[in-house]
Amino acid sequence: MNTAGDDRATPTLQARGLVKRYGRVTAIDGADFEILPGEIMAVIGDNGAGKSTLIKALSGAVVPDAGEILLDGSPVAFTSPLDARRAGIETVYQTLAVASAMDIASNLFLGREMRRPGVLGSVFRMLDHKAMRAAAQEQLDSLGVATVQNIGQIVETLSGGQRQAVAVSRAAMFGRKVVIMDEPTAALGVKESGQVLDLIRRIRDRGLPVILISHNMPHVFEVADRIHVHRMGRRAALVRPADHTMSEVVALMTGALRFDEEGRLVDAAGHRAEVDDQGHTITEAR
Ligand SMILES: Nc1ncnc2c1ncn2[C@@H]1O[C@H](COP(=O)(O)OP(=O)(O)O)[C@@H](O)[C@H]1O
Ligand SMILES: [Mg+2]
Repeated sequence: MNTAGDDRATPTLQARGLVKRYGRVTAIDGADFEILPGEIMAVIGDNGAGKSTLIKALSGAVVPDAGEILLDGSPVAFTSPLDARRAGIETVYQTLAVASAMDIASNLFLGREMRRPGVLGSVFRMLDHKAMRAAAQEQLDSLGVATVQNIGQIVETLSGGQRQAVAVSRAAMFGRKVVIMDEPTAALGVKESGQVLDLIRRIRDRGLPVILISHNMPHVFEVADRIHVHRMGRRAALVRPADHTMSEVVALMTGALRFDEEGRLVDAAGHRAEVDDQGHTITEAR
């Protein structure tokens, strides 16, 4: 199953045997997961495969019925997204998660505002807008978010890509361990998607690992270091994009191909198979 397992380093975030049931529906069914320091791990899978439930379990939004989650090798038990955030796990949700009526700086610090020094901050709870603007500008500059010109701009006047850049920057700013992104380019055009992908790479290059849930195979192949293929509630494969064609990865996702006990790619009949870039399956008869 596992062709791209990597035991050189302790995974930053790891899950073993996660199970989550909703009544009679088993959303995840013994799911394993791992992400190493400094890598982009794409998570792909058909609708209903359990990707969101897996991500929710990793980010504290869902409490699994069974299994364990390890952060830097130590067991953790998140009971809310706040727990996971406190532990350094930031999540950018599918819906563009920004407060549109507020400016960029306020969005970046939403829920984590800086207070004025002294009694103005501690007693009167006054916000330090100047410091937040400066820190927000510094953050966007360091992430290379060049499309945003004015940190005081109201978010609803930004383009979709700029809003997403704000949401992603916020996660990068506060995420100390892992940043999780659920379909960050789904609502964006080609150019804007490219900018968000660049941003994801820059976050990774800072050393912060990124979990990227995506349906977009070209995007996945462009940025992912490894790909977690989720199928029927569990990890069906873990591969490196360099080792496989997109068609092969899609075939792993649909179940047309799988890895046998020896780690070879086989079709449903158990015959060794490869899929070329044109989508033609090449099967080796036995
Ligand atoms: N809150 C919920 N209540 C009931 N069923 C759910 C809930 N969340 C997810 N499911 C079910 O669990 C399965 C996996 O869903 P999900 O994790 O959203 O998959 P994906 O993100 O891969 O599309 C689906 O059959 C879905 O209908
Ligand atoms: Mg989903």
